Amino acid sequence: MYPDWPETTADLVPLPLCDGPKLAAFDFQGDQQIDFLEYLGEGLHAHVVKVSIKGKEYALKLFRFVDDHDWYGPGDDDSNEDRDKLTLFAQYSEPFNSECRAFARLQEAGHPELATACYGYVILDEAQERELMDRFKLEFNCGIEQSGQFDMRGRYLGKRSGKPPPIRGILKELGTRDPYTNPPDFSVVSAKKVLLDLKKLHQLGIISHDLRRDQLINGKICDFSSAITIPHFLTNPELNPRLTEKQKHRMMREAFHFTIGDFWNFEEMLRDTLDEPRQTSKLDRVPVLPGGIFRYRADSKYQLRRSPDRPNRTRYGYIQTDQELVACCFSAGAETTPGGKSKDREDWAVEIMPVPWSAELRSCGEPHILTTELALWWLCMLALSDGHHALVPKADIVPINKWDTVNKGDGRGWVWRRRYSQVETPANDFMDDHDMLDIFDDST
Ligand SMILES: Nc1ncnc2c1ncn2[C@@H]1O[C@H](COP(=O)(O)OP(=O)(O)O)[C@@H](O)[C@H]1O
Ligand SMILES: [Mg+2]
Repeated sequence: MYPDWPETTADLVPLPLCDGPKLAAFDFQGDQQIDFLEYLGEGLHAHVVKVSIKGKEYALKLFRFVDDHDWYGPGDDDSNEDRDKLTLFAQYSEPFNSECRAFARLQEAGHPELATACYGYVILDEAQERELMDRFKLEFNCGIEQSGQFDMRGRYLGKRSGKPPPIRGILKELGTRDPYTNPPDFSVVSAKKVLLDLKKLHQLGIISHDLRRDQLINGKICDFSSAITIPHFLTNPELNPRLTEKQKHRMMREAFHFTIGDFWNFEEMLRDTLDEPRQTSKLDRVPVLPGGIFRYRADSKYQLRRSPDRPNRTRYGYIQTDQELVACCFSAGAETTPGGKSKDREDWAVEIMPVPWSAELRSCGEPHILTTELALWWLCMLALSDGHHALVPKADIVPINKWDTVNKGDGRGWVWRRRYSQVETPANDFMDDHDMLDIFDDST
């Protein structure tokens, strides 16, 4: 479940022990000397202490031994209290491992700048633990809410040492966060920067960020103890070949909720910040989700109309309910003022395609069914495809199944080329354009 006491530095292998990114141990370049300087703060999963190593100051996040309910996995159900089963899932999801995986993913992707700098993990030795306890009297059993109520650390003795596990830490750049009470103005530029970092983290497969203003250190995301990083048992069903289709769909839906939840949290952070007395910057102007950060208060009919209006380039969008994902395709007439904004347009229309979350692919021979996976995949592809995300009149929207006929020149004949993917397939020389368009011009 937890790493055992290391006997030599060779035991300090990159962690965690599961598929995917692994964080290397901090290289002390000699003896493991740490000076504990000051207590910096705590959260659900950890205590953070200012330390000095070889004259340089860092923040050392020291992880509690939390309840299995405190991390995403099978521990939510007490009937799963099985060491091997929990160990397997804990490798991905237990707070220390979660954080190792997220920082390691940033390092392997070459984007450590998206978060507070991380220098590796640290396992405290017995003398360091004694010194830490003498100075700060910290409690490592349970998360912050049940602090010290149960002997969580003693549950899983090390297989080699037979002792309760050592304290695990992650060494990071020392920074500051805004105070909880009466924080200073949060500028639009800073908010947009955090949003951009969040989007990039998602693109790298790191979701579930528990975003709050007090979680930001020097304006960057720093706390990954609840993060889900690919490959993960939630996002990568191929890790478990025994999953049923239904289970995979539920996982897909849950992963989607974690992902969009990060944007909801971000909006909530902005809304809360706007209530602060010293806030002057207009955070309601930061574009997060269609409809703006006050969309819950507004008339949803207008929100639907406004959603493609936002950056003037969102032809596709979606609405999610508990039962369905509703894919939306917006169109509007030509601009009434040339070069004007989309609000100057007329003849707004939206076509919708509700896709139940429960829609499942059937075995061969059954009718083809549009699943939420495919719908979401298409929405993303359409949003990314150049030239196909701007709001245009309906007649100019290229259907998903649009094929063009192209003469390759130099006697190489005709091919059918799919408009979106540019995939080509040979066509008969003697067919003319119109025949082929007749065959392939229907949208699905
Ligand atoms: N790099 C850092 N520099 C300075 N203070 C930090 C740093 N990281 C965390 N802290 C402080 O420690 C607190 C808890 O850290 P955090 O990573 O959020 O732990 P948890 O996972 O338990 O929520 C933060 O709210 C902040 O006050
Ligand atoms: Mg935190």
